[in-house]
Amino acid sequence: MSLVKNDANHDRFASVFNLLPSEAEFVMPVLEQLMLKHLPKGAHILDIGCSNGYIVQQLQKRGYQATGLDVSGKLLSFARINSPESKFIHEDIRNFKSPPTYDAVYSKNALCFFMSLEELTTVFQNIYTAMHDNALFMFSIPTADIYWRDGVPEDDYIGYGYTNTHCYVGDTFVFIERENYHYKPEERIREVAMTIFELIDGIWKRTDSRHLVKDYFLSEIKAVLENVGFIEINDCNIQDFGEDYKGYDQHCIICRKPSLSQ
Ligand SMILES: C[S@@+](CC[C@H](N)C(=O)[O-])C[C@H]1O[C@@H](n2cnc3c(N)ncnc32)[C@H](O)[C@@H]1O
Repeated sequence: MSLVKNDANHDRFASVFNLLPSEAEFVMPVLEQLMLKHLPKGAHILDIGCSNGYIVQQLQKRGYQATGLDVSGKLLSFARINSPESKFIHEDIRNFKSPPTYDAVYSKNALCFFMSLEELTTVFQNIYTAMHDNALFMFSIPTADIYWRDGVPEDDYIGYGYTNTHCYVGDTFVFIERENYHYKPEERIREVAMTIFELIDGIWKRTDSRHLVKDYFLSEIKAVLENVGFIEINDCNIQDFGEDYKGYDQHCIICRKPSLSQ
């Protein structure tokens, strides 16, 4: 187990997360291309780190049986409203134990909070066990490969050099997310600081939260998947999907659980 404690529960930001612009419009074509076209109609799909259920809702609308899992109970209360026909599981994926149930598992930007390869292994094992034979597992995850050159991270990312800031402004909220890459190269752990200002009963209220993200190398992630038993492990850089993905320094990985006869 990792010695670094990390809690990426997004409870405190749930009401604002539910107001942010949905990414469904540009996520769904990729999901369609890489996963959905290989699944039968009505297939049972699990979305891990489903947030307010915006992808679960889209899957359900397209005739799939969709289930969302998230550690944030508050986000799930929005998810239940956004996709009332879907099932939702309130659980930390590190503790998720399920018999083989799903024909596919999808996860975007939610498997980067585990601070050691042991923890990542437990998470992939839990997912593997919950999948039917031949089921697909597709996820996107930030990787160190994107900013390492010749065995070292680019200068910007070491020390206090690089902060990547995203900001969304609505009528009743401001959401600011700062990714601080002031890490030691051997650890590859960075901090994400989130701040919201929310207009409640005519008064602006500020909330802050910090959590950690660990950037693994693609080769490390693939080795863990292979050890757990996944096969046909393929990857692509999410920026290859076009203009909408500019600035998304993530890899998209897709693999399969073998059938007993394989
Ligand atoms: C950055 S958000 C991504 C949400 C959504 N998948 C997307 O792409 O928009 C990460 C989500 O993962 C959830 N999460 C974080 N740690 C988790 C864990 N250990 N188990 C389950 N969900 C987790 C958070 O509550 C949050 O909803």
